[in-house]
Amino acid sequence: MPFDSKEEVLRWYESRPRTLTDDFIDSIPWGEVRRYPFDRRLIPVLEYMRDVEILTDMYHKELRGTPTGRDPVISKFMERWGVEEVTHGEVINMFLNELGIRTDTAWKSEVRKKVPLFYHINTALITALTNLAGRRFTATHMTFGAVHEMTTAQSYRRMIEISGHPILKRILKAIIIEESAHTNFYWSVARLELRKNRTAQRLARFVLENFYYPVGQSSLGRARCRYSVVGLFGNDPAAIENLNRTVTERVDSLPGFREMNSVTRTIADLCRKHAEVFPAQL
Ligand SMILES: [Fe+2]
Ligand SMILES: [Fe+2]
Repeated sequence: MPFDSKEEVLRWYESRPRTLTDDFIDSIPWGEVRRYPFDRRLIPVLEYMRDVEILTDMYHKELRGTPTGRDPVISKFMERWGVEEVTHGEVINMFLNELGIRTDTAWKSEVRKKVPLFYHINTALITALTNLAGRRFTATHMTFGAVHEMTTAQSYRRMIEISGHPILKRILKAIIIEESAHTNFYWSVARLELRKNRTAQRLARFVLENFYYPVGQSSLGRARCRYSVVGLFGNDPAAIENLNRTVTERVDSLPGFREMNSVTRTIADLCRKHAEVFPAQL
C-alpha cells in the first residue's frame, strides 16, 4: 500500500496488534518440542538468529545517535520495533531451552559482551560519518533496514522448510508476521525518502552496492554468519532464486535501485565459496 508521508506509515504500523503476545507464547505446547526430531546442525543457525534479534537494542541505541534516529517519526517506530525484536530472540531462546540448549539468566548480557571491540570502533566511525551526511543518510538507513528485515523473514521461511519442526514453524510464522510489518515500515519510508532527491538515491545505492553484508556479520562474526547463510541457503539453487524474487526484485522497485543485485550476489557467493562450513551430516 503506498503511503504519502512517514506519519501515515507510522499510524499504519501502530494500528497493528502484536502477534507475539503473552497469550500466544503461553499457547505454545513447549513440553512437546522434544517430541519431534530437530537436525542438530541447525542449532547454531537458530542461536545466530536469536543473537541477532537480541542485539537489536544495541543497534537501536546506535541509531539514536544519528540524524535518522533523531527523526521523531522514525524514533517512535524504533521504540516498538526494538521491543518486538527482543521478544523474537527471547522466544527462540525458549525453544532452544526446550531442545536442551540451556542458557542461564545472564544469557542476553553474555551475547552483548561477546560483540568484538572492532565492531564498536567501526560503529562509532559510521555514526560520525552519518552525522556528517545528515538527513540525506536517512534513505540509506531505511533501505538497509528494509533489506535486513526482508532477508530475516526469508531466513525464517527457510528455517521452517529445512527443519520441518511443527512447533518451531508456529513460532516462526508468528515472528514473520511482525518482520513483515517492519519491512513495510522501512520500505515505505525508504521509498518516500528516496523520492525526495537524487543525492539520497545515489548515496543509498552506493552504500548497498558496495557495503551490503548479511545482518549480524559484523556484530557476531564472519564464521557464525557464514555457517548460518550456508546452512539456510546453500545446497538449494531454488532458495537463492526465491531470495532474489522476494528481496532483490522488491528493492529493484525503489527509486534509483534498478538492477542492483548485491544482496543475491553476496548470499550466493558466500554459499559457493564456503559450502564446506556446513557439514553434510553430524
Ligand atoms: Fe525479529
Ligand atoms: Fe524485524
